[in-house]
Amino acid sequence: MRLSVSIGGIELRNPIVIASSPLTATVYRLKQAEKFGAAAASTKLAFIKQPFQGRLQLYSEPGHCLIVPIDKRLNLDEAVKLVRDAKKETGLVILSNITHAAGHIEGWIDLATSLEEAGADMIELNFVCPNIEFTTQQLGIEIEETELHGASISMSPSVAGRITKAVKEAISIPVVCKLNPDVADVVATALSCEEAGADAIAIGGNYSSLPSVDVYNGGRPLYPSLDKVSFGALCGPCVKNLSYAVIAKLYRKLKIPIIGGGGVINWRDTVEMMMWGATAVAICTGIMWYGFEIVGRILKGLERFMRETGYESPEDFIGCSTKYIAPSDELAVYPEVKGIKLADYPTAEYLQSVKGKEVAFHPALAVVDEEKCNGCGVCVKPGHCEAITLINGKAHVNEELCLGCGVCESLCPQNAITVKRIDLKNP
Ligand SMILES: Cc1cc2nc3c(=O)[nH]c(=O)nc-3n(C[C@H](O)[C@H](O)[C@H](O)COP(=O)(O)O)c2cc1C
Ligand code: SF4
Ligand code: SF4
Repeated sequence: MRLSVSIGGIELRNPIVIASSPLTATVYRLKQAEKFGAAAASTKLAFIKQPFQGRLQLYSEPGHCLIVPIDKRLNLDEAVKLVRDAKKETGLVILSNITHAAGHIEGWIDLATSLEEAGADMIELNFVCPNIEFTTQQLGIEIEETELHGASISMSPSVAGRITKAVKEAISIPVVCKLNPDVADVVATALSCEEAGADAIAIGGNYSSLPSVDVYNGGRPLYPSLDKVSFGALCGPCVKNLSYAVIAKLYRKLKIPIIGGGGVINWRDTVEMMMWGATAVAICTGIMWYGFEIVGRILKGLERFMRETGYESPEDFIGCSTKYIAPSDELAVYPEVKGIKLADYPTAEYLQSVKGKEVAFHPALAVVDEEKCNGCGVCVKPGHCEAITLINGKAHVNEELCLGCGVCESLCPQNAITVKRIDLKNP
């Protein structure tokens, strides 16, 4: 069994990358990353625009999200030293995360060549950070196109392509373009980067967002030490399923690999993201909450999963879920089943109109395991469902009213409900 993957011709001993963030801003933390098994790390953003006195601020809702409106970036000297030390003191594959003004190509080249010289294995062009001009633009404040950095560059396929091409021509190590998915057409931007020579596309959360507020204190945004608020970058589990969609869309169009990210905190998320098309998976919020040790747990889980399922290498399952993507009209109907009454059954005319069409929908019903059910009543609550009632302290499903939607199964604390497909050939 092999866990390694390849990005731009560089081998990562496993698919786990530590995403650019405070986690990758010091050699000590990079050593921690290596100690717990990560294969690669993208160093904290290197940024020429100075002075930049930002200090990390976060809105944190564990299990849900982290919002970051501001963080300390590295200047070029700090980034060069970090990369040099990281290459000396760890065996990690180092991606060096950089951004600069869209209209000043020489700045991009200066950063990229200096960091290549310092020993970086790849350059990651940061077209993702929304905490620079992207948030300012969203307030309707105009900025010269040439002065745009970070996420604003993802808005323009031609600008992203131009920068990628220039950097690619200036250095000999692979170039990864990290894109912001919160733009009109991120696939167009990714294709433009690929055409310009990018070796991989990275993706990961960073949607424009606002924190919760103190409702008893005039609606003050809940950042510990900020009196004002700009739209911050949304990261963590709440973006995971958005990331899956973006990654799957990119996987269907690109030839180059994708470094996925956004909301991964365990081995199952990692496998799912790979099944939607990611070759490698970058993690940040999970480690900021629970420590570098989650990397070790993820790798153990990934290995166990591959052993159990018989996958011999990541390529055996990367992208395997994308074949299930279909237009929604193919999900809408199911064939008539004689003798079974089902809620919202399509009309005879409708069934006639779709006769002969392949459909992906299978009727299903909730089934209660009475041994496990303790009558707590949680499954009776869903507002859209009239199918479940409690009879003699046990949940009972009215099959004529059950839609087979699966909500009760997801809610039951005793795992007493399973939504089962009806075998159409043998109902
Ligand atoms: C505090 C913080 C700082 C970050 N700084 C950077 C950065 O400098 N460069 C970058 O490309 N992404 C940065 N990110 C985004 C992460 O690299 C990652 O793409 C994002 O957090 C989504 O992954 P997650 O859901 O695992 O956190 C930062 C995220 C956080 C939370
Ligand atoms: S939620 Fe589960 S345990 Fe509670 S009543 Fe429903 S089936 Fe029974
Ligand atoms: S599957 Fe959906 S419709 Fe059927 S009982 Fe459960 S919640 Fe109700």
